[in-house]
Amino acid sequence: MFEHFDTQEEVFGAKLSAALTMEHDSLDMLVELQDRTQRWELRDLFHAHASETRQQIDNIERCFQLLEERLRASPSPATKGLAKESRSMFLKTDDDVVDSALLAGALETELYEIGVYQSLITIAETWDDADDVVRLLTENLQQEVAASEKIQQAAEDVAAQDSAARET
Ligand SMILES: [Fe+2]
Ligand SMILES: [Fe+2]
Repeated sequence: MFEHFDTQEEVFGAKLSAALTMEHDSLDMLVELQDRTQRWELRDLFHAHASETRQQIDNIERCFQLLEERLRASPSPATKGLAKESRSMFLKTDDDVVDSALLAGALETELYEIGVYQSLITIAETWDDADDVVRLLTENLQQEVAASEKIQQAAEDVAAQDSAARET
């Protein structure tokens, strides 16, 4: 039986359920990136965002409570696909240049997460009684934006270092 959504609340609920799976997938991926990176500063970066991701999972669970909806996790094929692509890249990549591959996968995931939270917030902002839901999702969004900026900065640093190493 295919799911069918008739109301804005159902669309929101379905996206929120997929976001819960998305965050669990992100957490798994961050732990893998943390294990595979060759730089301690990236290990710290991935570790810090993994802690934030655990908090984001709590925030999503809290949104379900506030909306008096049953907690549920729907499939998130997009994040499964992003993780699969990222993993297939870094498993094939030499240690010397693996960090560029890790950061590419990490940035792609963050940008996807940003889109998911922007869409959820856009809907929730139109509801009179959802200020706390908006606040929790905005907290998550801001963490994703900050993480994407740190990852982008790290990618620039790593690219410059790898490029310099190639020339020597
Ligand atoms: Fe996240
Ligand atoms: Fe994230």
